[in-house]
Amino acid sequence: MSANAFDVKRIRADFPILHRRVHDKPLVYLDNAATTQKPRQVIDALVNYYSRYNANIHRGIHALAEEATAAYEAVREHTARFLHAPSSRSIVFTRNTTESINLFASAWGRAHLKSGDQILLSEMEHHSNLVPWQLLAKATGATLAFIKMADEGLLKLEELDRLLTPRTKLVAVTQMSNVLGTINPVQEMTRRAHERGALVLIDAAQSVPHLPVDVQQIGCDALAFSSHKMLGPTGVGVLYAREALLESMEPFLGGGEMITDVQLTSSTWNEIPWKFEAGTPNIADVIAFGEALTYLERIGMSAIQAHERELTTYAIQRLREVTGLTIYGPTRAAVERGGAVAFNLEGLHPHDVGTVLDAEGVAVRAGHHCAKPLMRRLGVVATVRASVYLYNTREEIDRLVEAIHAVQAFFSKPTHAKV
Ligand code: ALA
Repeated sequence: MSANAFDVKRIRADFPILHRRVHDKPLVYLDNAATTQKPRQVIDALVNYYSRYNANIHRGIHALAEEATAAYEAVREHTARFLHAPSSRSIVFTRNTTESINLFASAWGRAHLKSGDQILLSEMEHHSNLVPWQLLAKATGATLAFIKMADEGLLKLEELDRLLTPRTKLVAVTQMSNVLGTINPVQEMTRRAHERGALVLIDAAQSVPHLPVDVQQIGCDALAFSSHKMLGPTGVGVLYAREALLESMEPFLGGGEMITDVQLTSSTWNEIPWKFEAGTPNIADVIAFGEALTYLERIGMSAIQAHERELTTYAIQRLREVTGLTIYGPTRAAVERGGAVAFNLEGLHPHDVGTVLDAEGVAVRAGHHCAKPLMRRLGVVATVRASVYLYNTREEIDRLVEAIHAVQAFFSKPTHAKV
């Protein structure tokens, strides 16, 4: 589908924030891998909930509590459909991707892992798919191994085959790198891991918002992502895990809601998925997340992916024309990749670049992107990163490139020392 048929103008009209000015310039928001903007439908859902049926869920017997419970549980069903999960019993709401991965690492790891077992990760993981496994390894005596990547930013699949041993209990890998935009072949990786008896958890924080994801087609055992990176509110994460796996896991947090009975010295657990949702959940934001799902479905995930593919191809083409600019990650047309594009300008610190871009009204992220081991692998301390979503346009890519020229002009003045 072309950008025109996609009707970006109409989409943009739904996002109030996209019409504001920053430093007296129209905002160009290209920090979507960090968080995305919200359409009025999502904002309205929050206002509607608090104005009309705010109540605690699962425990009340009054009308408001029943309405709130129904709305909250309907989003669980909706999330299951969105992921093509076999049942909503596989869907646990958390605070964010990080908490989803920590939940799985802690609850599954402590039940199933022992000293000498191995967890297989990759060099391109976000800290949230590294640190929970480091903690688990420390607690259980398990070891960590890492699938290396080639310089282009693609994982070496032969490394996966080499590193999988009978001691490998889990492969935890990102479906889309938040830095490089690399899309990993998670379906094939899952097949190979399963052949060798290992489970697979997918960090889908950057993929579920941007492309169609079918957990049954991938065949993964668990998958984690966040609402705020897909038009929904902050404070809502999702853990999908196979029902049998959730049944086999101990609770993550203890407290109200996750029990069937409590004695003074012992308790029994609620059914899945509620066994993993201790305390009052983030009711309003889960309900508004449901609106985000509806919005994305109305546009269509394949159409969103096609739009971003076109924009990213254009962005890479334009960025490659800039003298002294290095792109990190796949740039060949034949390689399918996502819309996060990391780059550096020769002789300039990414934070300086980001600051001048901001002065031009262009919002990007500059830093290590919560992927310090990947930065070391790339031989840099940090990068600039532009990342697109369904509401971005080619004109905004042009604004980015113009702003990059402004950065270079600014720092080429003799009064501004280069690093
Ligand atoms: N994980 C988010 C990012 O990459 C915060 O920016």
